[in-house]
Amino acid sequence: MIEVTFQPATIGDLDFAHDVTKANMESLVDKHYGGWDSEIFKSGFGSNLEYIIFADGEKIGFMSYSIEEDRKLFLRNLQLVKEKQGQGFGTIVMKKLENVALKSGCESLILAAFPDNPAYRFYKGLKYLDTESRGTLIMMKKNLIEPRGSGDQSP
Ligand SMILES: CC(C)(COP(=O)(O)OP(=O)(O)OC[C@H]1O[C@@H](n2cnc3c(N)ncnc32)[C@H](O)[C@@H]1OP(=O)(O)O)[C@@H](O)C(=O)NCCC(=O)NCCS
Repeated sequence: MIEVTFQPATIGDLDFAHDVTKANMESLVDKHYGGWDSEIFKSGFGSNLEYIIFADGEKIGFMSYSIEEDRKLFLRNLQLVKEKQGQGFGTIVMKKLENVALKSGCESLILAAFPDNPAYRFYKGLKYLDTESRGTLIMMKKNLIEPRGSGDQSP
């Protein structure tokens, strides 16, 4: 079983984080926002909790998230290098992140996706539900804790 781990990103990881995000997202960002701007990405680096993702010690991706008010973990960016996509790593990352959320006291995980990004179907498959539109993005949410009183009431 391949071990997937998260290590806090440092400023030395900025180029990797930028390059993997640009390689994956440039055409979508171009379509939705009219062009990729590296400065926007670079100036935002360090504002959230940022991690490099490893699989058996090999660097395979980058993610960032924040812990929001009302017990939500907001996944702000998740990017795997192209060679490592479609092999189940994203699913493992999301399961681990849901555990991180629960350990951080969060009750739900939220994220934003372009509906024309294949990632949108990836999140749907992991039971993330649409909540609202934000511009051309769709906000998605998964409750990680059963609402009180919704459990099986049978003796
Ligand atoms: C989105 C991403 C994190 C998913 O991780 P992944 O490791 O590629 O996904 P998995 O291999 O775990 O896929 C799990 C399921 O998601 C779905 N899925 C994944 N990629 C898909 C794609 N390109 N098109 C359609 N469905 C897809 C499939 O249903 C797959 O199930 P299967 O194994 O039965 O085929 C990864 O592909 C990625 O980094 N993409 C580019 C960046 C991006 O779009 N990030 C999200 C920004 S919101």
